[in-house]
Order: sequence, then structure tokens, then C-alpha cells
Amino acid sequence: MDKIFELIEKEKQRQQNSLMMIPSENYTYPEVLEAVGSILMQKYAEGYPGRRYYQGNEIVDEIEELARNRALKAFNLDPEKFHANVQAHSGSEANLGVYNALLNAGDKIMSMYLPDGGHLSHGWRMGDKKTTFVSKMFEVEFYKVNPETRLFDYEQIEKQALVFRPKLIISGGTAYPREIDYKRMSEIAKKVGAYYLADVAHEAGLIAAGVCQSPFEYADIVTMTTHKTLRGPRGAIIICKKELGQQLDMAIMPGLQGGPHLHSIAGIAVALEKTKTDEFLNYAKQTVKNAQKLSEILVKGGLDVVSLGTDKHLIVVDLRDKEQSGWFTAWAMEKAGIIMNRNTVPNETASPFYPSGIRLGTPALTVRGMREGEMEQIGKWILEVIDIVGKQSVSAEAEERKVDLKKFMSEIEGNQRLKEIKQMVEKLCGKFPIYEK
Ligand SMILES: Cc1ncc(COP(=O)(O)O)c(C=O)c1O
Repeated sequence: MDKIFELIEKEKQRQQNSLMMIPSENYTYPEVLEAVGSILMQKYAEGYPGRRYYQGNEIVDEIEELARNRALKAFNLDPEKFHANVQAHSGSEANLGVYNALLNAGDKIMSMYLPDGGHLSHGWRMGDKKTTFVSKMFEVEFYKVNPETRLFDYEQIEKQALVFRPKLIISGGTAYPREIDYKRMSEIAKKVGAYYLADVAHEAGLIAAGVCQSPFEYADIVTMTTHKTLRGPRGAIIICKKELGQQLDMAIMPGLQGGPHLHSIAGIAVALEKTKTDEFLNYAKQTVKNAQKLSEILVKGGLDVVSLGTDKHLIVVDLRDKEQSGWFTAWAMEKAGIIMNRNTVPNETASPFYPSGIRLGTPALTVRGMREGEMEQIGKWILEVIDIVGKQSVSAEAEERKVDLKKFMSEIEGNQRLKEIKQMVEKLCGKFPIYEK
């Protein structure tokens, strides 16, 4: 057997036996895996249904048409008023497609500050160094959350927009645990004559289920990934007002990409159809309930949970008052079978590689059937791991840091209690099998 398949089997076991708490990860459906692994992968079909540059498209046209229609249906949108594009290969490319549709090189974008929870595809620079293509192509300015509340400060965003005069305002990010006021953001955009893009990569599934607020009435364009709370394959959907539809399609193909990944589009269509089931609705509701229960346990346990809770599937914890860096915490959690990621936090004082916080989420645990009772148990383990890690801040001195990190890794490798928690985690996971044997 090819080594790759042995490794896939090992990865499957890892996903079965650990707690998948990275909020952007999820378990998809067997039918999605089947569609994505299908012969559709073999077809080239540059263009759009009914208007392709290749022959032999009668079936794939139907598939892409179904995916586009289901995208609108999933969010209860009128096909007379809205348009969906399902071809962007990823969330980042969906955003690039939007910029390509609406902006010219050098135009101004205003988006959320990355360390506060924004996303790289909304532009980023490190000091003078323009790290992303978006920042090289456009003039990007960032808005920050209020340093006290760690929430969006709409008055401040408005003031900044009035001075900066962007052509595009973006909301959305990777680590903002609260609802965004889409209406307010659209009013700010209108006031300065900007387009408004709501990137709901994280929340898409929760919006489809009606558990989180919907941006469609307010935003000119909405982008989302399909593999997070939506439970589909890797990919993206862009939905815009009908009048921008043709411009958007052209911006993706031929503007940005070649052939659509029809296997992914088929998988997206399958996942979208599932959003209309009771099972999906229950999953979405329970995902939020689980996240709220977990954040309650963490707050009670003395952690600085950003904004003291969550409206969604994700929680951000600032570890600075524990004198702990997210790097250490995330590694110790992994040794205990709890997979989350280190993350920057509002008012960040450290570097993105050794940030001050952690980010954790509940979609994948919820798909497995875990509920509030399990969240209580998992919350206790998380608090215990944080206690085991103790005071571990990252020293600024690079050489010294290397030594610190190595020493820490060997200590946690040998930590008996982390091993015990890992065993308990595996036992819990065994009660919630994700794959049939
Ligand atoms: C808000 C937001 N936008 C865009 C993306 C990019 O998605 P992808 O990783 O598919 O490029 C992400 C991914 O985490 C995201 O959270």
C-alpha cells in the first residue's frame, strides 16, 4: 500500500481519538467525501453553466447550477435579487475575487486589524513590510476593537472611515466571538460611498440555520468558506446582489482562476442541501449552546475569556494574566489530546507566532454528539492543563527562547497528568465515534 494511505488511516485515528477544537475545522458528511473523491475531478469546464470554453458539460452544468441554487436556498435568498458564485477555490480566493470585481489597484480597503481577530486575506503588513498580496495591491487600513470591551466600536469605525474614505469596508474575521452589527456596518459604508463586504467564513453554517444573524440584507457582497460551520468540503461561496453578479463571475473566471473544481462544487451542493434538515438545525443550535457552556466553565475557572463569552461557535482566551503564552498552552493541550490553536488577542503585545492567547471552538465536538455535560468535563481538563503549564511567558531573546521551548517540550512529553488526561480524552472520544469501523 502507498505510504500516503497508511498516513491517511493514521490521521483518521487521530481525528477520532482527539478533541478537534480548532473552530475552523469540522467533520464533513460521508456523502461529501464521496462527491469530492469522485470522477468529477477529471472534468475541465472553464466558464459558467451554459457558457463554457470546453465541451462535454451537460452534466457538470447541472451540478454547478444545483450548487448555485442551493446556495441561495440555504440562506433563504430570492434568486431574482441575489446571485451566487461557487467557483472560488478557497475563502481567500473568494475575497480576492471580490476585490478584483470591485476595486482597481491602489484603491482603499478598510478591514479588521489582524491581531484583534481579522483575516490575512483582508490585508496585512508587519510594520513597513507589506506581508500580503492584498496589502501590496491596495491601500489597506485597519480598524481595531475597543481596547476595554474588546468589541467592535462602531462610532470609532465610522470616524475612521470618514477620514480614510475607503472604497471597500470589510467585516468578519477568524477570532471575533460576538455578533457583528451588519446593518450598522452597511450604514457606515453607505455614508462614505464604499462597498460593504461581509466575510462570514466562520459563521456561514450558523447563519444558514438561523442561529446567527444574517448579513444578506445589508452587505453588497458576502463571502464564506464551506468547510467550517457549514460542514462542507474545502471551498467557498460568494453571494452578491444580482446587479453585481456578472461583474463578480468575470472577476473569478477569467479574472482570477482557471477551471472550477467540480468535485468540490458537488460536495458543496451536498452540504448545502443538508442545511435544510432538522439534524443540521439541531447541530447549529447545540454548537452555540456548547460554546456558551464551555466559556461559562472557563470564566468560572478564572480565565480571561475575550468579551466574557460568545454568541457563536468560538471562544478566545487571553492568557496574559496567567503569565502564559498561547504557544505553550496549545502544545500542552495537544499532549493531552485537546487540539486547539494559539491565537493573537485584542491589545496584543506579543508576536503572531508566540501570541498571548488560545482560540477554541465546538462545531466538530457537536457533530460527534457531545453536549453540555461533555463541555463541563472538557472545560475542567482545559483548566487543569493551563494550571500544569503554569507561568510560561516567551522571552524576547531569540536564543534564550529556543532553549526555553525545548526544555518545555521535554517536560510536557514526560508529564504524567497530561498522559492521564489524554487517556480520559480518548475514552470520551470512544463514546462518540465519528467513523464507523
Ligand atoms: C474570515 C475568514 N476569511 C477567509 C478565510 C480564508 O479561507 P481559506 O483558508 O479557505 O482561504 C478564513 C479562513 O480561516 C477566514 O476565517
